[in-house]
Amino acid sequence: MKPAYYITTPIYYPSDKLHIGHAYTTVAADAMARYKRLKGFDVMFLTGTDEHGQKIQRKAEERGVTPKQYVDSIVSGIKDLWSLLDISYDRFIRTTDPEHVAAIQYIFQTLYDQGDIYKSEYEGWYCTPCESFWTESQLVGGNCPDCGRPVEKTREESYFFRLSRYQQALIDLFEQNPDFIQPPSRANEMLNNFLRPGLEDLAVSRMTFNWGVPVPFDPKHVVYVWVDALSNYITALGYPDISGDFARYWPADVHLVGKEIVRFHTIVWPAMLMALKIKLPRQVYGHGWLLFKDGKMSKSKGNVIDPVVLCNKYGVDAIRYFLLREIPFGSDGIFTNEALISRINSDLANDLGNLVSRTAAMISKYFPDGLPVKRCAGLLDEDLISSCKALPETVEAAMEKMQFSQALADIWRIIGRSNKYIDDTAPWVLARDPEQTPRLAAVLYNLAEVIRVVSILLQPYMPATPGKIWRALGIDDPALTTWSSAGVFGLYRPGTRLGKSEPIFPRIDIKKEIAELDALLATAQPESVTAVSGPADSGKAAVQPDIAGVALIEFTDFVKVKMSVGQVLSCEKVQGSDKLLCSQVDLGGEIRQIVSGIAQSYQPDDMPGRQVVVVTNLKTRKIRGMDSKGMLLCATTPDGYRLLTVERQVPPGSEVG
Ligand code: MSP
Repeated sequence: MKPAYYITTPIYYPSDKLHIGHAYTTVAADAMARYKRLKGFDVMFLTGTDEHGQKIQRKAEERGVTPKQYVDSIVSGIKDLWSLLDISYDRFIRTTDPEHVAAIQYIFQTLYDQGDIYKSEYEGWYCTPCESFWTESQLVGGNCPDCGRPVEKTREESYFFRLSRYQQALIDLFEQNPDFIQPPSRANEMLNNFLRPGLEDLAVSRMTFNWGVPVPFDPKHVVYVWVDALSNYITALGYPDISGDFARYWPADVHLVGKEIVRFHTIVWPAMLMALKIKLPRQVYGHGWLLFKDGKMSKSKGNVIDPVVLCNKYGVDAIRYFLLREIPFGSDGIFTNEALISRINSDLANDLGNLVSRTAAMISKYFPDGLPVKRCAGLLDEDLISSCKALPETVEAAMEKMQFSQALADIWRIIGRSNKYIDDTAPWVLARDPEQTPRLAAVLYNLAEVIRVVSILLQPYMPATPGKIWRALGIDDPALTTWSSAGVFGLYRPGTRLGKSEPIFPRIDIKKEIAELDALLATAQPESVTAVSGPADSGKAAVQPDIAGVALIEFTDFVKVKMSVGQVLSCEKVQGSDKLLCSQVDLGGEIRQIVSGIAQSYQPDDMPGRQVVVVTNLKTRKIRGMDSKGMLLCATTPDGYRLLTVERQVPPGSEVG
């Protein structure tokens, strides 16, 4: 039987669309899950959504929808995002799943019955965005020590979990299992900041809102969202049924989490498991954050990046590669458009793309019937071949420590070496001398074989690219693409004929691309879109997949429409029409002529001086022989049209969106 491997991501709050920071964790977990499958493990890869809590209830109230309606719409977008990013999860848990809810009630009841949970009163501070309780002394400058946002004073009757009872057992756990928390620096942080100063019992129920799992024996209370959320790792395996998947996969091999929630995973979660007499996870890996130059990506700062926009522009594998390569896992890293573009251009287009396309092109040009069996080894080969043979082990060593960036750097080292091998062996020179044909064949064979090995090892990080490489080299036997076949040099089949190959990663014009990306990301902020229909204050209680039969468009379609505020300079009736007016509109220096069908609602004299909203990137239309270069936006009412305008004067040419 295959050995089991269980890996989890945090379950995400479906309070808004997810951004590139959330994608980062999930892509890393996916790479690990794919790597383990490739190595022959029976993998359980779990992700999901953390749907209860005050934050979600408030968001839903703001939108005028029920919490369940609200989360349903966001969760379907999250699943779409994971499918776009090629995330190969095996199970997706939602904390609103009835089996999960029943299991939480069982857990709460069990802990209460055995005296690990008791009733008292909570007085302190609560950070709603983090769903965290804090004491006065833990606040930093009066704010949440985790996220820096304001906290709310809370005083309510509450159930408490006897966390303090587990303090010594947790200290022992940390001290006796140095691998339990990775990277090790996070263990010291937990020991010094939380465990050694002394653990207080944890409030584990709330009364001031009701979007949560009701406490079974006291339904005025709902279970604290972190108790509900952390338990997902076992309820997804069927707990409290401890046969079946639970027996097969628990304990988890690794919980992958962002560093800000290591505390919950290494203190609260193990203590809960100890109380329930369940084995502890083998490891909690706290990775770093994807930052911007001005700090953490956050909705309130308006600096979040939509992964959909990036994937649509550069392809999923390029974005996955960037996330895994750019930042050593565990450390923080800064996202810049420049770093993204230069990685795509230098690593993917220049290094990998070039190696594959040059090799495939030379094989089909010099050996249209495929490489011959007769080949002649040369002095330069040994170094390339021996490093290629060592590569799977090097990659494995990095992956076992979740050093994705290191594993990719190791793979790219051999890609670089192979490109240099092409330059050093100069196949185009060998091709001029028929006596050198066996040498030319050996050079190209070695290159094809290195590329085959590289493509096998790339599968966890870039799931679509290896297939393209295999097509380019005519590799169609699955036996040549297994992990174990990567350790054997010499499996590529002579006589393989190659078709015409397409560039795997086309080269890009860096300057132009950065300018375009800057513009695109500036307009495409994910939090400005929501799957909830109707404006926030419309009071309409509906979350719908589409609006009254009108197909929904992607945000990326919407941003194609460019709009600006214009100021009407002059206006006249169009001769021979009682519906059309022709206006000259100032768009910030550019004067445009725009013909609109509003003559029955506005007189030409009404128009000069008005500020109007103009669609500026429509193709020029000829209306009654006159060029119209744009469109004025209007509301349609039973009494005619009403021009859209701005709430107060703005400079003509100001962008709308
Ligand atoms: N619901 C809790 C987790 C419960 S797990 C039992 C939660 N959700 S979250 O949606 O706010 O964040 C989940 C995770 O997203 C973070 O722990 C982290 O892994 C990831 N990230 C969110 N923003 C990130 C960055 N800017 N950079 C890297 N990871 C980020 O916390």
